[in-house]
Amino acid sequence: MLTHVEKQLCESAITVRKNAYAPYSKFKVGVAILDELKNIHLGVNVENAAYPQGTCAEAGAISSMIASGGKKIKLIAISGSGSELCTPCGGCRQKIREFSALKTPVLICDEEMFQKRFILEALLPASFGPDNLF
Ligand code: THU
Repeated sequence: MLTHVEKQLCESAITVRKNAYAPYSKFKVGVAILDELKNIHLGVNVENAAYPQGTCAEAGAISSMIASGGKKIKLIAISGSGSELCTPCGGCRQKIREFSALKTPVLICDEEMFQKRFILEALLPASFGPDNLF
C-alpha cells in the first residue's frame, strides 16, 4: 500500500509530532516533506501565548525545505490526533500548493500509523497557483 519512502515519511511525521509545542490546544501536528533532491524536512506546530502568532506544522516544514535549497514538494506526510483525519487546514493547503504538483501525494497519519492518501488537487480543487500570475 505504501512504498518504502512513503512509509519512511509517515514514520518521520509521526516521530517529529511528539516535539510539537502545543500547550494551548494540546493538538500536536508533525509534518515530513520529501523534496526533489530527496531530502526530508520536518515541521511541527509551534503555538504562542498570543494565540494568532502560532504556526502550523506544514509552514515549519516548508520553511525548512526552502532554507535548505529544496524547491519542490514531492511527497508530504502529516501526523495528527483526534477522531477525524488530520488533513491540512485551508491556509496550509495553499502553502503546499505553492511548491507541489496537483498530483503530489498527501499522506495523512494518526499518532501511530498511515490512514489515508490524497492528492493535493483533491484537497484544493480549482486552485490558484504560481502559474496564474504568468
Ligand atoms: N495545525 C497544524 O499544525 N496544521 C494543520 O493543518 C491544522 C492545524 C495546528 C495549529 C494549532 O497549533 C493546532 O493544530 C490546533 O489547531
